[in-house]
Amino acid sequence: MFITFEGIDGAGKSTQVVKLKRHLQERGREVLTLREPGGTPVAEQIRELLLESHNDITSIAELLLFSASRAELMEKIIMPALEDGCDVILDRFFDSTTAYQGYGRGLNLDMLADINRIASHGIRPDITFYLDLTPEDALMRKFSEKSLPLAFESEELDRMENSGLEFYQRVRAGYHAILEAEPQRIVMIDALLTPPEIHRKILSNLHNFEVTSDGKN
Ligand code: TYD
Repeated sequence: MFITFEGIDGAGKSTQVVKLKRHLQERGREVLTLREPGGTPVAEQIRELLLESHNDITSIAELLLFSASRAELMEKIIMPALEDGCDVILDRFFDSTTAYQGYGRGLNLDMLADINRIASHGIRPDITFYLDLTPEDALMRKFSEKSLPLAFESEELDRMENSGLEFYQRVRAGYHAILEAEPQRIVMIDALLTPPEIHRKILSNLHNFEVTSDGKN
């Protein structure tokens, strides 16, 4: 199974990835967890380029760098793992590109769909969990964790996070549009619920997915 997690920075995806991995392993599954961008030596270098706060990158170059990282990870790690029967849980995938570069940066959505298809080798997630959070709540979380005063631009944030409140509002609206277009693949969960509540919702949706996809076979 290929499972992806999406949401704006600070929505709590990584906590849920760890919980879901543990759950699937307890059920005897072999599970690989990864996050984008990154995951191969070259993709990790691309990640550094993309997130280093002092780098000035055009929107198209940013799109192509995220996509290059994805193409590497897909071909070298994810596709072989899926072929071996592993479950793959991926923290961010092409929905991030649609939300951030498409809706956030305003790049053409048709062009993005083509590039997303190329970078992902035409492979789509079986199910995607989107943790929904307002940018204000996300930032509040981030700064309260570090006990810092709230700011929408700060040395504490990486290059993407320093894109400002309006950018994040567009990204969130983008996620809602993606969800509307593909409700059968994407499950939205309120990120303000507690981590155990979110985990329970993930498990029950996964169960429903397994039941319905078994029924189709
Ligand atoms: P990361 O530190 O992994 O953030 P998070 O913990 O929120 O996942 O940084 C990844 C950043 O890159 C994040 O701000 C989202 C952004 N991003 C894009 O803009 N487009 C993409 O295609 C991907 C995969 C990530």
